[in-house]
Amino acid sequence: MAADLKLWDKLLPDQRLNNIYFGGGDYHHALYDLIVHTSGLQLPQESFKLALSDKVTIEEMASNPVQLRLLDLIVRVLQPMRIIEIGAFIGLSAMTMARAMPAGGKLTTIEKFDHFADICRRNFAANGLADRITVVEGDAFEALDKIPKSELFDLAFIDGNKERYAHYFETLEPRVRSGGLILVDDVFFHGDVLNAKTTTEKGEGCKRFMELAARRNNYVKLALPLCNGLMLMLKN
Ligand SMILES: C[S@@+](CC[C@H](N)C(=O)[O-])C[C@H]1O[C@@H](n2cnc3c(N)ncnc32)[C@H](O)[C@@H]1O
Repeated sequence: MAADLKLWDKLLPDQRLNNIYFGGGDYHHALYDLIVHTSGLQLPQESFKLALSDKVTIEEMASNPVQLRLLDLIVRVLQPMRIIEIGAFIGLSAMTMARAMPAGGKLTTIEKFDHFADICRRNFAANGLADRITVVEGDAFEALDKIPKSELFDLAFIDGNKERYAHYFETLEPRVRSGGLILVDDVFFHGDVLNAKTTTEKGEGCKRFMELAARRNNYVKLALPLCNGLMLMLKN
C-alpha cells in the first residue's frame, strides 16, 4: 500500500487511509458531530435571531456552520474594515462576518431577489447589525458597477450566481486592496468542474473562473476541498 501511495490518497477525511480505523456506521454524521462538539459550533438559529425563508431552507442554500466558522476566523485574523459579498440569501454569512469585524467596519452585500433581501434586512436589524451591513438589492452584474471605483475592499466573498463568477472576480479584483482576500464559494460545483466538458451552465461558470484563477500569479491561492469547494486568493 505505502509504495502505491499517491498524493491525492489522503486529501479528504473520508478517504480510506484517513478513516481506516473507523468502526462502522454513518462516518459523515459522526465526523460532523465531532467537529461541532470540539469547535463549539451552534445551529444558525442559536447563533442569531433568525427569520427564515418559506421558499428555500438554510440546509439547501446557506453556508453551513463549519464554513461560517471559517469565515468568522478569517475575519478575526484579517481584521477587514470593508467587506463585499455577492449573494446574501437570508444573511447568515454577512452577519457572521459583520459580527467578527473590528469596530467601524462596514459590509455591503448584494442580493438579487427581494424575498431574500427583505429577510436579510429583518435579520440584520434583529441582530443589531443593520448599521454595519448595507443590503444592495439587485443583480450583482449591474450593482457592482454602481459601487464607486475608488472604494477598496479588504475582503470579498463571491457566492452569487455561478454563471458569472469570472466576471465578478474580474470586476472586484482591482477593488480589493493589496493584502486583501477574495473568497469564492462552490467552485467545484458538485463535481461538474472536474468533467472534461461541464454539464451545467453553473458548472461552466465555475470552471471558467477556476481557469482564470489558475492563471493569476499575483495571489497566494488555495482551492480548499471544503463542502462544495472554496477558493481562497490572497492578493500580493
Ligand atoms: C448560495 S446563496 C448565498 C448564501 C450566503 N452567502 C450564505 O453563505 O449563507 C446565493 C445567493 O445569491 C443570490 N443571487 C443569485 N443570483 C444573483 C445575482 N445575479 N445577483 C445577486 N445575487 C444573486 C441568490 O438569490 C442567493 O440568495
